[in-house]
Amino acid sequence: MLNKNLKEILDGNIELPTLPDVIMRLLSAVDNPESTAPDIARIIGSDQSLMAKILKLVNSPFYGMPRQISTLTQATVVMGFTAIRNIALTIAVFDEFELGAAVPEKFGYTREKLWEHSIATAITANVIAHKINYAKKEDAFIAGLIHDIGKVVFDRFCHEDFVTALTLADASGRSLFDAEVDIFGESHAFIGSWVTEKWQLPPHLVDSIRYHHTPDKGEVELKLVEIVHAANNLVHAEGYGNGGDDIVPEINGLFQKTFGFSQHDLHELKLEVKQNFESAVEFFQTVA
Ligand SMILES: [Fe+2]
Ligand SMILES: [Fe+2]
Repeated sequence: MLNKNLKEILDGNIELPTLPDVIMRLLSAVDNPESTAPDIARIIGSDQSLMAKILKLVNSPFYGMPRQISTLTQATVVMGFTAIRNIALTIAVFDEFELGAAVPEKFGYTREKLWEHSIATAITANVIAHKINYAKKEDAFIAGLIHDIGKVVFDRFCHEDFVTALTLADASGRSLFDAEVDIFGESHAFIGSWVTEKWQLPPHLVDSIRYHHTPDKGEVELKLVEIVHAANNLVHAEGYGNGGDDIVPEINGLFQKTFGFSQHDLHELKLEVKQNFESAVEFFQTVA
């Protein structure tokens, strides 16, 4: 049965945060094949603070640009539309992660730890995408970054029930996903996909959020679902940040079965993630 507070959200009685208007306009402009780089630059330029942050990020060591990028049009041409859209989305989503009530320290889960978990998942998804030559590498990054956005929604709008779910996962040794289904009738994966669908994110991103714990059910782009699922598990196993439970998944078989990775491939992947994680944390400090 659906939890009362969750039902209130789904019925539209509790207003969830919306993406800033500038981001919504950017999403549809990026989707429109007629758009040009100056069009994209003009939309971003209508928001001074977004513009400043994007230029700062594009010039951060994370992207390792050979020379300074000083205009938005230049940034859009060099990075590509999808990358610029994803950077803008990152900035908007980061603001969401900042807000909300505190979870009792004892669970090891905090908003900050979830953010670390999400950054590590984004990086891992991106490295996997490179290794398997998945065409939409940029999307793998953003999908990893926002895969657990549903936890932020629960935490912010159903805070007490969310703490109950964390308590249940902690006491029973089950996953937070299972505990949420007990308490809410649905999981963070479901509510995360619900809210990002409202934000009009592309369907393959929404799908990857919805099925990141149940990849076999992916409907739109199975490869992306598998990447996010595997990245999330690796990040749990390696202990980056905290996603709300202490389950350590088995990843050797998973990576072998899904991507044909040998032990050696997996080892290399872990190393690359570790190297990138440091610079990514710096990168995200730039967003703050
Ligand atoms: Fe999750
Ligand atoms: Fe996760």
